[in-house]
Amino acid sequence: MRFDIVTIFPDLLTSPLEESIIRRARESGIVDLATHNIRDFALDKHAMTDGRPFGGGEGMVMKPEPIVASLRNVQEKHPGGYIVQMTPQGRPYTQAVAQDFAQKQHIVLLCGRYEGIDERVSAYVDDEVSIGDFVLTGGELAALIVIDSVVRLLPGVLGCEDSAGRDTFSRGLLKHPQYTRPRTFDGVDVPEVLLSGDHKSIESWRFVESVKRTISRRPDLLPGVSFSEEEKKLLSTNGISFGQWK
Ligand code: 6GU
Repeated sequence: MRFDIVTIFPDLLTSPLEESIIRRARESGIVDLATHNIRDFALDKHAMTDGRPFGGGEGMVMKPEPIVASLRNVQEKHPGGYIVQMTPQGRPYTQAVAQDFAQKQHIVLLCGRYEGIDERVSAYVDDEVSIGDFVLTGGELAALIVIDSVVRLLPGVLGCEDSAGRDTFSRGLLKHPQYTRPRTFDGVDVPEVLLSGDHKSIESWRFVESVKRTISRRPDLLPGVSFSEEEKKLLSTNGISFGQWK
């Protein structure tokens, strides 16, 4: 899979893309990645990439010409990319969107700065996403989040093929608690069932803990989750009443 990132601060992106899992994914050829500096495509001699907003108001707006020229440059070298603009006005970026993006061959991430990007650039963009209801100084950190969350879903990137399938959100529930050695820490024991070697009981325990956690921390997720009859039975055996949410 290929990512092109279009930004006025390419240096902000380099080091996070050169460590750990993303580094390995690049080295093994699963991911190809390049950054492009919008400033290289500014037309005037001062290489201006922003201007005052028409209609007045605070801040600066990113000019359309250098952005469209950088997008065209990417498309000439690597045609067919899906162009995503990073903006707090975008649709919410979720695990479902990450899974959809992971199916694509090529994504171009356009990072805005200042008070936003001239609206006429939207004609060149396929999608607009936001990583949450807060405002960043620019789309670069959000682009890193999109890359990170998509790359780990690509086949061959995580050691264990099913790790991503066990993620929080992969079926709309939070992940169950995890434990490793030592068996007792600060006087707290690892739950007995996890030491039992009984895989079916362990699966059931993890599922129930996932649901409990989701109820207490993220009840907003529950209406989007569907449960099998067997799971419903397991939940009611554990004192989790069903009718409450579905
Ligand atoms: Cl994608 N960009 C910016 N600038 N701020 C954000 C965001 C994106 N998502 C949430 N806040």
